[in-house]
Amino acid sequence: MQDNQNKNTKELLISNFKPQKSSLLQSLHMIQKENGFVSENDMLVLSRYLKVSKSEIYGAITSYPEIHTSINSELQECTGLSCYINNDKVSNNTTDCKFKCFEGPIAIQNHNLYSKSNGKYTKTNSLKTPIIDSSGILDKPVLLENINQKKNFESYNSIYKFDALRKTLNKKPMDIINIIEESGLKGRGGAYFPTATKWKMASGNKSIQKYLIVNCEEGEPGVFKDRLIMENMPYMLIEGAIIAAYANNCSDLVFYINGEAEKSFQTLKNSLIKMQQNNIIDKNGMIFDSDYKLKIKLESGAGGYVCGEETTLLNTMEGKRREPRLKPPFPTEKGVFSLPTIINNAETLCNVTYILNHSVREYKKIGIKDFPGTKLLSVSGHFKMNGIIEIPMGITINDLLDKAKLENPSDKIKYLAIGGPSSGLLPRSEFDTSLKGGFLNSSGIMMGAGGFIGINSTIDPIDIIINLAEYNADESCGKCTPCREGTPRLVEQLKQIKPISDKEKYKDELNLLAETVNLASLCGLGQAAGNPIISYLKYFYD
Ligand SMILES: Cc1cc2nc3c(=O)[nH]c(=O)nc-3n(C[C@H](O)[C@H](O)[C@H](O)COP(=O)(O)O)c2cc1C
Ligand code: SF4
Repeated sequence: MQDNQNKNTKELLISNFKPQKSSLLQSLHMIQKENGFVSENDMLVLSRYLKVSKSEIYGAITSYPEIHTSINSELQECTGLSCYINNDKVSNNTTDCKFKCFEGPIAIQNHNLYSKSNGKYTKTNSLKTPIIDSSGILDKPVLLENINQKKNFESYNSIYKFDALRKTLNKKPMDIINIIEESGLKGRGGAYFPTATKWKMASGNKSIQKYLIVNCEEGEPGVFKDRLIMENMPYMLIEGAIIAAYANNCSDLVFYINGEAEKSFQTLKNSLIKMQQNNIIDKNGMIFDSDYKLKIKLESGAGGYVCGEETTLLNTMEGKRREPRLKPPFPTEKGVFSLPTIINNAETLCNVTYILNHSVREYKKIGIKDFPGTKLLSVSGHFKMNGIIEIPMGITINDLLDKAKLENPSDKIKYLAIGGPSSGLLPRSEFDTSLKGGFLNSSGIMMGAGGFIGINSTIDPIDIIINLAEYNADESCGKCTPCREGTPRLVEQLKQIKPISDKEKYKDELNLLAETVNLASLCGLGQAAGNPIISYLKYFYD
């Protein structure tokens, strides 16, 4: 029986993967799909086939939250913030965010989704991400324009004709970089780094092989906009990705997709097949009838928040543990397999398609000078409406709530958790703040990737901060001491002070620890893990 199992695993590996370490993550996904989990014996077979020690394989697997070494067939309740605040009672069997925040509370069992109503979970076949009407705040949508016609090849082709890509191939790569520079586009993955600056850094590195990786990991709880992009506007995304690859003279394009986002993976895969069938990409990777050739691949990610951090993502593509790398060198110089690599978020690349389809002038009419264009916000929590809304950059929170009618007048939002576990809480008194890139104010609040969770008066802010702090502590990859030791200590301290009425004397200690974790940690996760606590101390501590 065991011999047969080993033989099956080996055959699976031989027929699908090269015997090299970089095949590890994709092999694990395939074994797990076949058997439901990855057994000790599978690890042994993998170790022999990939010629990687079993301990190294075990070390990598235990760092990948989406790879399981046993089957959990119990119902697991989501502890993502939106589910947490909408769930009256959470069992001990839990799981982290399942990115259906608009429907919370939800649970999973054997890969099936369940949603809760009247205290009972029932199976939901497919949950469609709602789109919130933005006509009160935007003259016309940018990314969500014609959203209902963007999923289907025929309708997308009849409206857009892949003109943005055709136009690109008639220009020199540097002309495209200059257009993007002029547009002022900044990355929508959360850091708002100027897209053309990154591209220029990469174009200085001459290499025959160069990668463009589309970051579709989307592992931040409360954010579900890249899944909407992949599942509803795949051609706009693929078009933008090919344009970016051409502008940067890339030989390879990889869509790195969250391992649990199976529908997103399948939609992108089918869309690429459609593009091949319609001679947009030929079987050798030539784009239209130009002489530009591109190798395009889809890969499933390893999961969790830190995996979306660009250097962590690179490590997992090489079959290494889910840990960030030291920077410099930056990926544009030494990225995946030590080759120059550009990493862009899915939403950023949809903006690229829009700019090429319309014009820099059109694009710059929307948003504000430093942050032109729009942002997709993932709205959830206690709002009247949850889902994705496209907002003009620079709009104030008050204007957004008012003009998009997000709130229930009889159940007002008291505070917001914006920007996920790296940002923090903003009280209603601060709702005249404008939404844009970078820090929104001095308390470390950021819009980041656009998580926007509204909370009413029923939840004590300290419970929200404990949920976020626990998440950061769980997600800490353990590579550096300040984050590995500091994030659980923050949770402990918060839990200790929660029941105490005279909290004032603990304030300085908590603040110092939060600031130390931020200052001393190695990657963006730890460097922002203190932010929720700092915002809590500023606005809610008494
Ligand atoms: C903890 C952490 C998680 C991140 N998660 C994501 C993610 O899920 N998707 C994403 O595009 N960028 C994520 N980023 C940002 C990436 O490191 C990188 O800046 C981004 O993909 C670059 O694309 P852009 O310039 O187009 O925004 C994350 C960063 C950190 C520190
Ligand atoms: S800051 Fe945290 S997540 Fe980042 S390297 Fe250090 S331990 Fe890992």
